[in-house]
Amino acid sequence: MTNVTSSDVHTTKKFKSRRQEKLALKNAQSNKSYVNQTAFRACERIYRTRLPPPDFTEVIDFENLASNTQQNLDRIVKIELKHDLTELSPLFGESRNDAKLCYTLRDFPGLVVIPQAFSPSAQKNIIKSCLRDHAKHPNLSNLDAHYVVPDGGIWNLYEKEAKGEISPEDPSYYVPLKDMSDSEDKVGVYGDAPKETNLSVLPPSQLIRRLRWITCGYQYNWLDKTYALEKRYPFPEDIGDIASAVAKAIEGVGHIEMDGSGYVNQYEGSKFKPEAGVINYYQLKDSLMAHVDKSEINMDAPLVSFSLGHSCIYLLGGTTRDVPPVAIYLRSGDVLAMCGPCRAAFHGVPRILESTLPDYLKTNPEDPDWDIYASFVNEARINVNVRQVF
Ligand code: SIN
Repeated sequence: MTNVTSSDVHTTKKFKSRRQEKLALKNAQSNKSYVNQTAFRACERIYRTRLPPPDFTEVIDFENLASNTQQNLDRIVKIELKHDLTELSPLFGESRNDAKLCYTLRDFPGLVVIPQAFSPSAQKNIIKSCLRDHAKHPNLSNLDAHYVVPDGGIWNLYEKEAKGEISPEDPSYYVPLKDMSDSEDKVGVYGDAPKETNLSVLPPSQLIRRLRWITCGYQYNWLDKTYALEKRYPFPEDIGDIASAVAKAIEGVGHIEMDGSGYVNQYEGSKFKPEAGVINYYQLKDSLMAHVDKSEINMDAPLVSFSLGHSCIYLLGGTTRDVPPVAIYLRSGDVLAMCGPCRAAFHGVPRILESTLPDYLKTNPEDPDWDIYASFVNEARINVNVRQVF
């Protein structure tokens, strides 16, 4: 183990208390002690550390190009979508100023990022549907592993509680815990559900904060990392339309270097079929470890992913965890597509960035119906990702 002293912890940093300083020192020591950690893991640790806060200067920012380091500016390539997304689907809202603008990175071929693809009102609409319409049966969620979730969904219950329509005295107020003694769900599709140690019945306003993911279309078996072919539910229309529009817009999009390296996405957009999707609901302290999405039979079709609510640090690496990843800011309204070689790349979300909720997603006296959704995204980030399986 390498010795770490308090001078290794940013000496210019003023700590609020001796306790904070000690914690920062402990974090620095534990980071240095992982001598055999992969490049990806080391980077995850850096961005997950809260005390002292990490240095964000190396994070790629597609929305504020001027704030990037020269090294990052050298790898960013400005490219053009084949179509303006708003011409393909009304779900993107009003068109952006530079309607076809998107980016890739020279050293991560196959990545396409479309900043601010959705207008503010379009973002609100998708957030609503992700919470109200999609977080319920037949789609499965992490909550189904432990709770007898009502068919109306946990959001519906939370809304009733918030409006004062149900109280703890009502029999439907508390979602009961599953009797795990005779449940087939102890293993099976829910095998990888978060290891909850303090499971208890909770008021809907607390249970909604435990919602981590839902799966739609082909249901995913987290245990053996395959799709359950016998469990295919209708794919949500709005999410499917958005992903299909992105697939059309990124057809023929990419970048080839002078030496012939690089990648241009040749997947025919009209052939893209949204067959399986995951909606991730992150609370501010949540993260998603490095992984590769490789359960799809069809690895040629792009994976389409979009972000809502708080911003995050997204890490994109290579085909092994030893490839040093690049860190990218993803903000509400951004679309990211992984095409070709990028489909095989490790990626993850080590950090949700506090205090980054855009003003237009906060409570607004002119839009009282939005208040309940604002109260959720006020402490959350939502990611929707869509894949073609076959
Ligand atoms: C994922 O890779 O499954 C989610 C990525 C994200 O949250 O942006």
